[in-house]
Amino acid sequence: MIWEVWQYLTTPSSKLARQMGFLYESIAMSARAKRCHSAWQPHYQNCQLAIEQAVSTCRSRRKVLVFGAGTLQDIPLGLLSETFDQVLLVDLVISRNALKLLKSYPNIEYIEADVSESLHLLQAGILKVETPKAWLDDEAIDLVVSLNLITQLPLLPVRWLKRKFQISDSQADQLGQGLIKAHLDYLQRFNACVCLIADRVDREFNRQAEKTDEFDPWWGINPPQTSQTWQWEVVSLAESGTAKRCQVNEVGVSYW
Ligand SMILES: C[S@@+](CC[C@H](N)C(=O)[O-])C[C@H]1O[C@@H](n2cnc3c(N)ncnc32)[C@H](O)[C@@H]1O
Repeated sequence: MIWEVWQYLTTPSSKLARQMGFLYESIAMSARAKRCHSAWQPHYQNCQLAIEQAVSTCRSRRKVLVFGAGTLQDIPLGLLSETFDQVLLVDLVISRNALKLLKSYPNIEYIEADVSESLHLLQAGILKVETPKAWLDDEAIDLVVSLNLITQLPLLPVRWLKRKFQISDSQADQLGQGLIKAHLDYLQRFNACVCLIADRVDREFNRQAEKTDEFDPWWGINPPQTSQTWQWEVVSLAESGTAKRCQVNEVGVSYW
């Protein structure tokens, strides 16, 4: 707990990221990643292998753009740094430890940015989803990776809007779909190889390993076909406290 409070006080982040809960969630995610270190390793390795696979299909290797850099643990930093002239890592929040680690890679740059380009509106209660445009005009980008991000895009904005502006469930659904669709369209507009890694189905199980719930993290939007999938126990029974439910996400990769 002390670690989390210290991180909250010392991690550099925007007012928006603090107010809307992105900093809090990022620290909670890092803390859970530490606690679940061995259980999460196969997921991180699979993400890294999927990115390596995407790199191998790129004909030219000038710049790579990674959306949803987060803890950095699912990124093959060494490979990207050696293979590409420039590596751009984008997120709303990055920990001080991650920033320190990046210092040993002179061609890797961290960029703090809102990938949806809509948060300034949503924070003010304006229910509008922008069409993201950043980096589309950069012809040197040869690979774009969207890394465990797309299904996360609606979560905190919807929570914020429900709490602060009392939006209805149907407004929340519309917004969730809008944010996911806009990110998917955005990825499709890059003239580059794309690697999309995201959860496809989230399932809950009780102590007897019986499925108790299943939800669609895509809010009803059709995801692209997957080339490979794996299971990620994102919340173990021990982590779930009194709920005694574990959550296993089916993660999939799409390339185009
Ligand atoms: C589930 S985490 C995955 C991060 C990383 N790939 C990992 O596993 O550590 C989702 C990430 O998306 C970022 N994120 C969520 N919404 C964002 C937005 N609108 N713009 C940029 N980053 C965002 C969060 O800060 C978080 O780091």
